[in-house]
Amino acid sequence: MSAARKEPFEGHKKLERNITLLAVGAFITVAIGGIIEIAPLFWIDNTIEKVDGVRPYTPLEQAGRDIYVREGCYVCHSQMIRPFRDEVERYGHYSLAAESMYDHPFQWGSKRTGPDLARVGGRYSDEWHVQHLIDPRSVVPESVMPTYAFLKDKNLELGDPAANLIALRRVGVPYSDRDVERAMDDLKAQADPEADADDLAERYPKAQIRDFDGDPSRLTEMDALVAYLQVLGTMVDVNSAAAQEELASEKGR
Ligand code: HEC
Repeated sequence: MSAARKEPFEGHKKLERNITLLAVGAFITVAIGGIIEIAPLFWIDNTIEKVDGVRPYTPLEQAGRDIYVREGCYVCHSQMIRPFRDEVERYGHYSLAAESMYDHPFQWGSKRTGPDLARVGGRYSDEWHVQHLIDPRSVVPESVMPTYAFLKDKNLELGDPAANLIALRRVGVPYSDRDVERAMDDLKAQADPEADADDLAERYPKAQIRDFDGDPSRLTEMDALVAYLQVLGTMVDVNSAAAQEELASEKGR
């Protein structure tokens, strides 16, 4: 190397040959990138785009969800349809982030011994679910799913549904004061064909109100679990939601 000619990257050479300087330089560069990525998250309330139709679970659906978690259904079932052709063809429209925004904890899952359940709502009748949970092999002979017959015999423990809703409200689920006040009545009314559930239906759009387990005289854990399974993936009209999304991205272009 001739001493007369000045190398164009003299400064960089210095940086590369001094390990401390290089470490400090790399740290500063990564920190700038990190701040740009992370800092805005502290000032925005939500990273999830709102989608029409998403509502908090009714107290009965929420009770069913608690049973789902208690029984470890998530060990074999995921609730997230990925945007791949094979998944979309089998399970339906891919899951939108907003569809699990009120799930605490979310049930996305990474293990599928059984099929994904994100859109199982409405796919089968209540009778099918009850029969399948009592004895999976009676409807799907090759099934390896355990039996959950006891759910039909066990009365749903009512507990304090208002307290549950308040706890969920603390982590961001928008239950109204009236939802909290009426939680116990709502819980009972949803599975009782005799009850006046107009008020419930108004506050929880598209709520399915009927006896779920085939025995209207009792409110069982089966009622709650089937009510939960039947709402999964049904809140959002996915085709119109996807159309909205497309429209929004076109406007942004
Ligand atoms: C040991 C793994 C395992 C566990 C635990 C399990 N399942 Fe399953 N599940 C399966 C398998 C395998 C299938 C597919 C065969 C069948 O339909 O029974 C299935 C199917 C289903 C289906 C039908 C899905 C469809 O689209 O056809 C539903 C609904 C279901 N399970 C709900 C539940 C619920 C609710 C629980 C918890 C109470 C649960 N499963 C626990 C393995 C499991």
